[in-house]
Amino acid sequence: STPVKKDVDPYALVSSDLEHVRTNLIKLLGSANPTLTSVASYYFKHPSKQLRPLLVLLFAQATNGLGGRWEEKCAESIGERADLDWPLSRPDILTDWNPNMPEHTSSFESAFELVPPTLNNPPHIPAYAPPTPRTSSSSILPTQVRLAQIVEMIHVASLLHDDVIDESSLRRCAPSAPAAFGSKISILAGDFMLGRASAALSRLGDAEVVELMSCVVANLVEGEVMQMRQIIPAELGLSSDGEHKLRGTESIIQTAGSSRVSQEVWNVYLKKTFLKTASLMAKSVRASVVLGGAREGEVWKEVAYAYGRNLGIAFQLVDDILDYEAGEGTLGKPGGADLHLGLATGPALFAWEEHPSMGPLIERKFERSGDVELARDLVRRSSGVERTRDLARAHADKAREVLQLLPVSDARRALEVVCERMMKRTR
Ligand code: FPP
Ligand code: MG
Ligand code: MG
Repeated sequence: STPVKKDVDPYALVSSDLEHVRTNLIKLLGSANPTLTSVASYYFKHPSKQLRPLLVLLFAQATNGLGGRWEEKCAESIGERADLDWPLSRPDILTDWNPNMPEHTSSFESAFELVPPTLNNPPHIPAYAPPTPRTSSSSILPTQVRLAQIVEMIHVASLLHDDVIDESSLRRCAPSAPAAFGSKISILAGDFMLGRASAALSRLGDAEVVELMSCVVANLVEGEVMQMRQIIPAELGLSSDGEHKLRGTESIIQTAGSSRVSQEVWNVYLKKTFLKTASLMAKSVRASVVLGGAREGEVWKEVAYAYGRNLGIAFQLVDDILDYEAGEGTLGKPGGADLHLGLATGPALFAWEEHPSMGPLIERKFERSGDVELARDLVRRSSGVERTRDLARAHADKAREVLQLLPVSDARRALEVVCERMMKRTR
């Protein structure tokens, strides 16, 4: 086996594929409507961590060749369905509004012909030539690179909708899409992107992968709705000072001290965290391993899922901490947003365990003037941030631990490094 370097840079390991993901993505968003195209591709024009594509590519590298269907998936992956230059190179039903085909879009009349122009004047369809295999130092399949793009599209579609819901003015160090273009077109651009992602997904020709990624879209919405109808102490049988009336509840966090915040409150918070953030990471790395030929019952899929789930929860917990700790300058998005949105995340919930007076503030969603400052002060005077970090650390450690079930490789090491860096991130 090849010796593993001590310090692997996760991004360097898959840099050529990641670069391809970014540049080629914008091509998938072409449409005859220039406004739609520019709003949909807007967030891709700003630098981002590309964390989700990174994970998909690293899992591909760490597990390709291990699964029982590897040879089969390799053969499939260089076939017509996985052509990476699709859809722009293929004039067919999906692309007949393609701006590259002016005869279909230039005149009002042709757009409304009863017989599709493709029948009157069939475009010349070049004989299919399989894409030349991309030179990649790794074994990553074209279908897996495409999956990385799909995952990023779903993520960015959710951000377009999120910035409308949160009325957020800043994203990726620039005005948010709703701030720059308006809410209505931002929502539609997100929907458009989901449509393009779905078409690309079906092209991968794997029903299990389609199911996983469709499930993610539903989970994102479930998480968001769960957050909207968040923890209202009264609904959970808690008195407003946080004293729980529920019997037999204990804080899931095994720290000594009171557990005013019931098990149920933590369950809701962690479930919401899974749905809005971790589900996408868990299911997309699992899908990557499926595209690499893992069979049902093989351990690789479970490792991927457990890693993504735990890393995702840790990621969101750190996000919730950064909302308290970091300012707009480092985050590239507004800091301190959660309390203003009425959201009690980890730091506030832990602070509630130490300061009962947090209860009424959470219950009225920090609505009265001075509430946000009061809550922030209670968090500062508690171990809320520290205990949220401990909880994130526990999940990040779990993610690293499951990786030990994979054979040693640079990619496996890189996935460990991702866990470490994630805990230290400042944006
Ligand atoms: C960012 O969270 C947002 C999410 C993790 C998911 C948002 C999901 C939806 C709006 C549902 C619609 C989904 C689709 C696929 C169209 P945040 O607001 O806590 O973080 P932020 O500070 O980055 O805005
Ligand atoms: Mg937001
Ligand atoms: Mg949000």
